[in-house]
Formats: sequence, C-alpha cells, structure tokens
Amino acid sequence: MATVLKVEDLKVYYFTSQGTVKAVDGISFTIDEGDVLGVAGESGSGKSTLGYAILGLVPPPGKIVGGRIILDGIEITSLSEDELRKIRWSKVSMVFQGALNILNPVLRIGDQIAEILMHHKGLSKKEALEIAAQHLKLLGLSPDVLRRYPHELSGGMKQRVVIAMALLLKPRLVIVDEPTTALDVVIQAQIMNLLKQLKEQERVSMMFITHDLSLIAEIANKIAIMYAGKVVELGSADNIFERSLHPYTQGLIRSIPSLKHRRALTWIPGAPPDLRNPPPGCRFHPRCPYAMDVCKREEPLLIDVEKGHSVSCWLYIKK
Ligand SMILES: Nc1ncnc2c1ncn2[C@@H]1O[C@H](COP(=O)(O)OP(=O)(O)O)[C@@H](O)[C@H]1O
Ligand code: SF4
Ligand SMILES: [Mg+2]
Repeated sequence: MATVLKVEDLKVYYFTSQGTVKAVDGISFTIDEGDVLGVAGESGSGKSTLGYAILGLVPPPGKIVGGRIILDGIEITSLSEDELRKIRWSKVSMVFQGALNILNPVLRIGDQIAEILMHHKGLSKKEALEIAAQHLKLLGLSPDVLRRYPHELSGGMKQRVVIAMALLLKPRLVIVDEPTTALDVVIQAQIMNLLKQLKEQERVSMMFITHDLSLIAEIANKIAIMYAGKVVELGSADNIFERSLHPYTQGLIRSIPSLKHRRALTWIPGAPPDLRNPPPGCRFHPRCPYAMDVCKREEPLLIDVEKGHSVSCWLYIKK
C-alpha cells in the first residue's frame, strides 16, 4: 500500500517568554492509503500541534525545530509559504478543533465553498456551486444550505459543512481534530457515522485526533497514543485495544466507560507535566504505578515489540 504520510523525528516547540514548550518532541509514524490513524492523549499532549505542523500552519511562537514530514513524496518542512498554500486543501486538509467558528459569519455557505474551488481549480462560480452542492449531498445536506449564512445552521450542520470543505479537493490526507467535542451526543454519533462512511466509500486517509479513546475505537485501524509531546505506543487498533502495553495506554483504556462489563471507571491519577520542563527519563514516571529507578533517569526509546506494534517503556526493554 502506498504511504501517504511519513513523519520522522518531528519536533515542534513554542518559544514563549515563559520558556520553551516542547509540544511535539521527536515523533515518528506513517499513514498508508486508506488508513485512519487515531491520535489519542489527554489535553495538552501535543495532538493539535502535530496536526498544524503537517499542514505547515504552526502558529507563532511555534516552530518546527527538527525532523521531516513527507506527504505524498513531498517534504513539507522544506516548502515555502507559497508552495504550502498550493498543497493545503488539495493534498492535505484539516477540520480544526473548534472548526465551527472558522466559517465566515458574513458570507453565505455557498460562497465560502465556491471560493476554494475557484481559487484552486480555476472554476467559474456556477461550476463551483454545482460541485459544492454535490459535496453537501454526500454529507447529507440539502443544496439550499448553500444560500444560508452560518448562523442559520445548527452546530451539527456547520460541522458537516466544514468536513465538506476539507474533502472538497479530494486531498490525500484529511486531519480531523476533535470533530465532535462541541456537539451533543446524538449529533456526535451522526458525525462519527458520516466519517466512517467517508472512510469506507471514499477511502479517505485520515488522521483522527481526540482525547476520547472510545471514539477512536469506532473508526481507526491504527492508533498512536501521545503523552507529553511523545508517542508512547503505536499499533493496530487490535494491538492497542486487545494487547496494550504502555501503562498510560492501559490507564486510558480503563477510563473508557463500558456498558458491557460495567466496570468501575478508573482515571489515571495526577496530571500531565508542564511541557516547558517535563520530567527527566520517562515523562510518565510521576504518574506510573510501575515506575522503576531507571524510568526517572533515562528516556525509554520507542521499540518494536511485534510487527507494527511499538512501545516506549522500560518494562519492555531488556537491559
Ligand atoms: N500558541 C501557543 N503558544 C504557546 N504554547 C502553546 C500554543 N499552542 C499550544 N501550546 C502548548 O503546547 C502544548 C500542546 O498543545 P496542543 O497541541 O494544543 O495539545 P492537544 O491538542 O493535545 O490538547 C500545550 O502545553 C499547550 O499549552
Ligand atoms: S518507562 Fe517506567 S515510568 Fe515509564 S511507563 Fe514504563 S514503567 Fe512506567
Ligand atoms: Mg487539541
């Protein structure tokens, strides 16, 4: 299967007046054609920053300080702003966290969608609106949405419009960042169904970012667990849900409510570290029930434990 995205030892830091925030600190993974990579971790673990970096849109004072991002054979990290603008939407797009607010309140939905097609494809307004209508239909919206303003749409409808915009130019990769967080549970389920349908029918490669591992279980075939700017476990959905290895992954899984087993919910005690000054060694050690001396001193590397399943934890490294 062709590789769509290859991220190698990526580092993205925010240089603030209070210190350097190591938001993404040496991350590597690949996404193949048709893959949905779920990226899960608590708030502040660097998930959105990772998405911005792939789009070439890290906000100041952030900077990519190391590593490579190769999208469809093109090295993003070496592109100029002009070159990046050409590939955004057409090769990679993102449904941003809190995306409902990115729609321009004074423009009709149709004008906002048509603008992307006119700009990237050189279509006339009429042609662009026809394609826009087809896309809205694909996402279960009627063409009359084109004539409406954002405030005339419900949250769920706006989220569908934003997803339609992200898919408009058939990008190789769509990054979807917490797409259901602001929505109620019924609409949340509808949006998840829609994304699953897109994955199956359109074979869209996706990076699905969420703090909620139970959503990932519904859609992803591969999962990266992030903790404090690092990927601590990476594997197939089966690896992660059936044979998780990292104590942090195990804690996240235990904190998913289960109707079937009616288990007591347990949450991982403590809070993620301040990324300006993360703990030495394994960044999870202050919260880990299995922490050993070596964990406090030396950082465990991400190692393969079986094909396609890797973990960074001293429990699995033979010394
Ligand atoms: N614009 C910014 N300036 C400074 N620090 C930031 C900025 N955006 C994010 N951060 C910091 O980077 C870290 C990762 O944030 P983020 O990528 O938003 O995580 P997540 O999406 O997992 O919640 C956090 O410590 C956050 O405070
Ligand atoms: S390396 Fe040590 S502290 Fe970190 S998760 Fe593994 S056992 Fe826990
Ligand atoms: Mg985020």
